[in-house]
Amino acid sequence: MKKSKTSFFCQHCGYMSPKWLGKCPSCNGWNCFAEELVAAADSVGSSERFFDGKPLPIDEVPATEGERTPTGLDEVDRVLGGGIVAGSAILIGGEPGIGKSTLMLQVMTNLAQGSRKVLYVSGEESAAQIKLRADRIGAQARDLFLLIEVSLEKILDQIKKIEPAIVVIDSIQTVYSAELMSAPGSVGQVREASSRLILAAKKSAVPVFLIGHVTKDGSIAGPKVLEHMVDTVLYFEGDSGHAYRIIRGIKNRFGPTNEIGVFEMRDRGLAEVPNPSAFFLAERPENAPGSVVVTSLEGTRPILVEIQSLVSPSNLGMPRRTAIGVDHNRVSLLVAVLDKICGLQLGGSDIFINAAGGVRVDEPAVDLGIVSAMASSFLDRPVDPRTVILGEVGLTGEVRAVSQMEARIKEAARMGFTRCLIPKTSAAQPPGLPKMDIRPIRSLAELLENLF
Ligand code: TYD
Ligand code: MG
Repeated sequence: MKKSKTSFFCQHCGYMSPKWLGKCPSCNGWNCFAEELVAAADSVGSSERFFDGKPLPIDEVPATEGERTPTGLDEVDRVLGGGIVAGSAILIGGEPGIGKSTLMLQVMTNLAQGSRKVLYVSGEESAAQIKLRADRIGAQARDLFLLIEVSLEKILDQIKKIEPAIVVIDSIQTVYSAELMSAPGSVGQVREASSRLILAAKKSAVPVFLIGHVTKDGSIAGPKVLEHMVDTVLYFEGDSGHAYRIIRGIKNRFGPTNEIGVFEMRDRGLAEVPNPSAFFLAERPENAPGSVVVTSLEGTRPILVEIQSLVSPSNLGMPRRTAIGVDHNRVSLLVAVLDKICGLQLGGSDIFINAAGGVRVDEPAVDLGIVSAMASSFLDRPVDPRTVILGEVGLTGEVRAVSQMEARIKEAARMGFTRCLIPKTSAAQPPGLPKMDIRPIRSLAELLENLF
């Protein structure tokens, strides 16, 4: 009998070490190493057999752009790059309760209604619970099979037996292999389960969705290695206080990354939001000081977002700076620039910035919008509600170009905006833009002249 081999794994990030360590050199976590059995030699061998290792001239490699299966939800298809690629492994991460199971159940129902046999494996909920959810979202399909199972070997057996067209594993952290001695959910188990499921997917060309929980700090629980193993990583994000949910492509071997799909959680499941700009601007107060609209580019899609700011005199020794939905450091920098270059005395004010609707906008292109919102609130003068403001702000108060200006302006025009404040360098771009009052801005001083 072969001697089984063990290694020590960081339970946070999956770092492997032959010895026990007190501190993980990769994620700097303390006391997070556990000894785990490394996969039995046999299962490693099986992956070697799959890759039979004969070099081919590239001309002779068949150029099949894997067949894509549409999911029936345009927002999901867009993120995947046009549908599910045969044999691909897709990881869906997200916080508990965000709606991963609901989304996958909807996708599976759509596929099953197109008379494809699909298999939903759950190790988290009972069949009755899933049935309740299915009834709630009106998911009825004869070809949707439900399997409540956590044993990897049994799941693989059933996949072979049922021969589904698509498999969902909800969640990968619950699956465990009897061949390893470590506990379910440990790094070794998650990696072993994923690699064997992915291998099965590649061999049979059956796509597999792996649902993965994320930890408090936002990464997929257990192994980072999981992200390297799969073809596509999607994150499902949103805010528990808001109904909207965004599915974001982080990695995609078969399509674009950073593309997003927008959904709204309703009482009967997730509904697509085909027009996110309208959705995020729906409750915007017009003519209120401190409210400004920017266009943020999410993947290839421009989305209009309202930035709100409240600047009020502080009675604290250290005035408050709070930023929600935008980068905190960026805001500090912009406050300093506005203070120094434009002479607005913001030093003694509490400043709050919020991207309305609970979205996150992390682009430098929204700098000018943030500055405008702060100036508008500080001076207590509203910005014209039909104005969109775009531009990156440098430390000397200069306004820099942003990418994809044309797409951003088009989206603003489509939503009925008539005036744009944009960087001078971008304004020099060739026309073909919709008719608009476009004001080129070179510096923050020019911004204040044109803002109101
Ligand atoms: P779920 O899909 O179970 O989340 P996850 O699998 O990511 O943990 O979604 C659970 C939440 O969604 C729960 O708080 C209830 C809510 N929900 C609705 O608001 N409407 C619905 O139609 C469904 C099915 C769930
Ligand atoms: Mg779930």
